[in-house]
Amino acid sequence: MFRKFFNLFSKDLAMDLGTANSLLYTRADGIVLNEPSVVAIDADRGHVLAVGKEAKEFLGRTPKSIKAIRPMRDGVIADFEVTRQMIAYFIKKVIAGFSLARPNIVICVPTGITQVEKRAVIESAQQAKAGMVRLIEEPMAAAIGADLPFNQPVGNMVVDIGGGTTEVAVISLAAVAYAESVRIAGDAMNSAIQRYLQNEFQLFIGENMAERVKLAVGSAFPLPEQLVVEISGKDVVSGTPRSVRVTDGHVREALTDPVRAILLAVHKALEKTPPELAADISANGLLLTGGGALLKGLDLLLHKSTGLNIRIDSDPLTTVVRGTGKTLENRAFYESVYIN
Ligand SMILES: Nc1ncnc2c1ncn2[C@@H]1O[C@H](COP(=O)(O)OP(=O)(O)OP(=O)(O)O)[C@@H](O)[C@H]1O
Ligand SMILES: [Mg+2]
Repeated sequence: MFRKFFNLFSKDLAMDLGTANSLLYTRADGIVLNEPSVVAIDADRGHVLAVGKEAKEFLGRTPKSIKAIRPMRDGVIADFEVTRQMIAYFIKKVIAGFSLARPNIVICVPTGITQVEKRAVIESAQQAKAGMVRLIEEPMAAAIGADLPFNQPVGNMVVDIGGGTTEVAVISLAAVAYAESVRIAGDAMNSAIQRYLQNEFQLFIGENMAERVKLAVGSAFPLPEQLVVEISGKDVVSGTPRSVRVTDGHVREALTDPVRAILLAVHKALEKTPPELAADISANGLLLTGGGALLKGLDLLLHKSTGLNIRIDSDPLTTVVRGTGKTLENRAFYESVYIN
């Protein structure tokens, strides 16, 4: 009883506001929310109909009067107003019925974020009744979440493949020493699968279906056994529903360009890293995180192409929010990793 009462006051929040998924974390309960960053809006009246999981089901299925929006699709805030409403909805959902104190909140943001975007994120959280708002860069949060020696004079390389962006960063002495960010990640893989099926199988498929194909049989490196999936869509010419069988080989071919772009980003970062830090990375390897880290065989391909040891975090979809959450435990110790 006493502990519960005390928790009311210690309910600080950590938030990973991703282009694909948003996660919230509290010290007391760990991850308390994990939902797609999607908002469904009534286009005529302009009000929000659904947010998160429910809204994701609307993607590609809405009548003209309803729009399902991913307000941060390309790794930046594409639609400020909708992003604000989404942040407010998630925060309220977690702190429902909790009005004694405003929770402090740490939010992680991409390394390339502009001043205007920073302000938008901070104001959104404040409008949702947050107290103090601090920002932390995503690769830094990932390094903390994966227990890398982020504050030592050692180069740590983090490759975070999310929905909208792939971020490659080198972290040393609690700062981001170098960062390379490309807007090619999970979403680009889904689009590449849609394009491939259209060109090679004359089949239109939606975004959610493309993602399901990627999760089921997608890979970056040949697999020990063939995988096959049956998918349904719409014939390009006749417009009628039709289904086809697709193998891992097809999907690997479909993913050639986005996978190559990710490899290039890693190579570019390695080239630009100062020699001392590069030596650390060649000794310690790199950390692969974000949902894209789960693409089968990506670690093998990265290893073959760079010669580095590749470590996939134990739960790559939550590394960033766990790292962000960890900074709540000792604000003074982590003070230097906040960027505002
Ligand atoms: N098993 C899997 N294989 C391949 N891709 C996957 C797998 N599981 C999830 N993904 C992809 O990971 C992406 C989401 O990852 P994550 O939640 O880390 O992104 P995010 O943090 O929201 O985005 P960003 O960091 O770019 O803002 C989606 O594109 C999803 O399709
Ligand atoms: Mg992310």
